[in-house]
Amino acid sequence: MNQYDEFSADYHWLYSDGVLAGKPFLEQFEGLLKSIPSNSRILDCSCGIGVHALALAGQGFSVCGTDGSAGMVAQAKERSRGANIEIPFTVSAWNDLPGKIDQVFEVAFCLGNSIGHCANKQEMISSFKGIRSVLKKNGLLILDSRNWEKLHQVKSRFSPTGPRMRHGIRCIPLYCLEFSRLF
Ligand SMILES: C[S@@+](CC[C@H](N)C(=O)[O-])C[C@H]1O[C@@H](n2cnc3c(N)ncnc32)[C@H](O)[C@@H]1O
Repeated sequence: MNQYDEFSADYHWLYSDGVLAGKPFLEQFEGLLKSIPSNSRILDCSCGIGVHALALAGQGFSVCGTDGSAGMVAQAKERSRGANIEIPFTVSAWNDLPGKIDQVFEVAFCLGNSIGHCANKQEMISSFKGIRSVLKKNGLLILDSRNWEKLHQVKSRFSPTGPRMRHGIRCIPLYCLEFSRLF
């Protein structure tokens, strides 16, 4: 989590302005969001800097955001203040959710390849148990994971992003993955 605390203030550079505004997220999940009641309670349990939580709240859903990194949660709070949208953001690792969150949700999102941060199978199981404990019966968990097998196959380490201009600074962020056992 320390890695994200250190990185949190610069995390926004990874995203284009459109992604920061939640556009591709809302497009990707348009069908799902239309299919659930408009008063659904939604948890983003790896909220990062708050991009998806803010997009969901902008659609009128009742949203909470949690993340294991205090730095990321601080950024999410700042972004929601800036957007004048009130969202409760709480620092919580997935397996701590039952002790930190005292409500249940119809839907939980865990996006951005977050679940892959579990160190091992046990941690992943306890994380899923933690998330399930704050979901209603028959609640929905939506999560994604990078296709690591494909990346290992093609040994693709570098992915440049587009140029961004923010606060007078121009930057082209570059993702660099480390495959310590393969390279
Ligand atoms: C790659 S970022 C994705 C953030 C956000 N979902 C997005 O797509 O912008 C992964 C996030 O997972 C969070 N995370 C990692 N391990 C966690 C854990 N055990 N419990 C809760 N959050 C965790 C990190 O702090 C980080 O914010």
